[in-house]
Amino acid sequence: MIKKTPPTIVVIGCGVIGLSSALSLQELLRNDPSKSSWQVVIVSKEWPTSIPGAPIPHSIEYSSMWAGAHVRPIPATTTQLREEGRWLKQTVMKFHSLLKSGDQIGLTLTSAIEVFEAPGSEYNAQTAESFEAESGLEGYRELTAEELPNGTTFGFEYESYCINSPSYCGDLLRKFIIAGGKTINATLRSVDEASTITSNVQFVVNASGIGFNDSKVFPIRGHILLTNGTCFDKTITRQNLDGTWNFIIPRFFSGGTVIGGTKEPHDWRRDPDSVTCRRLLDEVEELKQYASSSSSSSQPQNISIIREIVGRRPAREGGVRLEIEFPGNTHSTKSKLPVIHAYGAGGRGFEISWGVADGVAELARSLMAKVDQTKGRPAKL
Ligand SMILES: Cc1cc2nc3c(=O)[nH]c(=O)nc-3n(C[C@H](O)[C@H](O)[C@H](O)COP(=O)(O)OP(=O)(O)OC[C@H]3O[C@@H](n4cnc5c(N)ncnc54)[C@H](O)[C@@H]3O)c2cc1C
Ligand SMILES: *[C@@H]1O[C@H](CO)[C@@H](O)[C@H](O)[C@H]1NC(C)=O
Ligand SMILES: *[C@@H]1O[C@H](CO)[C@@H](O)[C@H](O)[C@H]1NC(C)=O
Ligand SMILES: *[C@@H]1O[C@H](CO)[C@@H](O)[C@H](O)[C@H]1NC(C)=O
Ligand SMILES: *[C@@H]1O[C@H](CO)[C@@H](O)[C@H](O)[C@H]1NC(C)=O
Ligand SMILES: *[C@@H]1O[C@H](CO)[C@@H](O)[C@H](O)[C@H]1NC(C)=O
Ligand SMILES: *[C@@H]1O[C@H](CO)[C@@H](O)[C@H](O)[C@H]1NC(C)=O
Repeated sequence: MIKKTPPTIVVIGCGVIGLSSALSLQELLRNDPSKSSWQVVIVSKEWPTSIPGAPIPHSIEYSSMWAGAHVRPIPATTTQLREEGRWLKQTVMKFHSLLKSGDQIGLTLTSAIEVFEAPGSEYNAQTAESFEAESGLEGYRELTAEELPNGTTFGFEYESYCINSPSYCGDLLRKFIIAGGKTINATLRSVDEASTITSNVQFVVNASGIGFNDSKVFPIRGHILLTNGTCFDKTITRQNLDGTWNFIIPRFFSGGTVIGGTKEPHDWRRDPDSVTCRRLLDEVEELKQYASSSSSSSQPQNISIIREIVGRRPAREGGVRLEIEFPGNTHSTKSKLPVIHAYGAGGRGFEISWGVADGVAELARSLMAKVDQTKGRPAKL
C-alpha cells in the first residue's frame, strides 16, 4: 500500500527566521487536533553547521551564521521601528521562557552596555520604565559621567541576551527534527519548485533571507572579527559621531568573542580588508575593560583573531515582508500556492525572530481556516 504524503507546509530557508517560523508552525499544528497529520518541511541550500575556524563552508549570504549576536533595542521612532520593537519584545519574552524551561540553546542573559559620542534625541526620553515597557528587558540604568568611556557623552546598561548564533540555529534545527520536522537540501531556482519539491504541499513560507528577486532587498555588509577572547561576559556597543560602530559580543558556550564591526548598506565586497580590521582592533581597546568579567584578572587578556568575517544582513526597504501572497494575484511570484513571505530582517533577525515567527503562524492559521472552508482545495483560495 502506498502511504500518502501528509499535508505539508514547506518553509524555504534554514536561517533564524525559517527555523523559528518552522517551530512556531509545528506548535500551531500540535494545538489543532484536525491538523495532527500535517508536517513541516524545511527546504534550504545551506544548513547551520558552522564552526568558525573549521573547514565547513558557508556563503556570505547565509546571514544567520555570521551574526554577533545580541539583543539591542532601538527607540521606536518610525512605523517600521515600532513594528520591529513589538517583535523584539515578543522575542525577549520567548527567550525568558526558553531559559526558564532550562533549554540550553545558545542563549545567555547578561549585562549590555551602550555608549554614544553623540546620542540622537530619541534617547533623551528613555527611562527605565519606558525601556522595560518597550523591550521587556530589565535593569536599565544610565551610566554616570565617571563611568563613560573617553569621548562618549551618554550611556546606559541593562540586562540583555547574547546569542551564539551558529550554535543557537543548530539547536533550533535539532528541536525541529525531534518534533517530527523534515528537511530537504536543495537550491530552489523557481518559485514553483517550492510547491512541487514534495507532494501534497498546502502552502509555502518564504524565509529566504536576502531572497532572490525583490528589488527592495539589499545587503548591509558586516565586517567583524571572531577572536579567542574568553574573558568577556558583557556586551558593549559604542556609536561614534561619524556613524561608525564598535562592539564586543561574547559568544558564550565556547564560541569566543566577536569584535565588530561595520554596517555598510549596498556594499557588495565579499572579503575582509586589513585597514578595517586594524581600526576595529585599535578602537575596541578601551572598551575591553567594560566588557571584561569581574572574575577575570585586571590584566587585559591577549586575544587573537580566529577568523575575519564578512556577512550580509538581508535588509529590505520598509522592513521585513510579512504577508500572504495569493496565487495569480501579484507580480513578484507566480506560485500556484499561497506563499507567506517572511524575509528582509536586516540587522535584527535574531532579536525579532520569535515575533516574526508568531506572525507567520498567525497568517498560517488564517490560511488553514480558509483551506478548511474550501474542503481542502487550497489552490482555489
Ligand atoms: C555581522 C553581522 C552581525 C549581526 N548581528 C546581529 C545581532 O547582533 N542581532 C540580530 O538580531 N541580528 C544580527 N544580524 C542580522 C541577522 O544575522 C539576520 O537578520 C538574520 O540572520 C536573518 O535571518 P534569515 O533567516 O532571514 O536569513 P538567513 O540566515 O540568510 O537564511 C536564509 C536561508 O534561506 C536559504 N535560501 C536562500 N535562498 C534560497 C534558495 N534559492 N533555495 C534554497 N534555500 C535558499 C539559505 O540557505 C538560508 O538557509 C547580524 C548580521 C551580520 C551579518
Ligand atoms: C581621550 O581621547 C582623547 C582624544 O582621542 C585623547 O587625546 C586622550 O588622551 C584620551 N584620554 C584617555 C584617558 O584615554
Ligand atoms: C546541498 O545542496 C547544495 C546545492 O543545492 C550542494 O551544493 C550541497 O553540496 C548539498 N549538501 C549536501 C550535504 O548534500
Ligand atoms: C521569496 O522571496 C523572494 C524575494 O526575495 C522571491 O524572489 C521568491 O520568488 C520568493 N519565493 C517564493 C516561493 O515565493
Ligand atoms: C525577477 O523579476 C523580474 C521582474 O521583476 C523578472 O523579469 C525575472 O525573470 C525574475 N527572475 C527570477 C529569477 O525570478
Ligand atoms: C601577546 O601575544 C603576542 C604574540 O603572540 C606577544 O608578543 C605578547 O607578548 C603577548 N602579550 C601578553 C601580555 O601576553
Ligand atoms: C589567544 O591566542 C593568543 C595567541 O595565540 C594567546 O596568546 C592567548 O593566550 C589566547 N587567549 C586565550 C584566552 O586562549
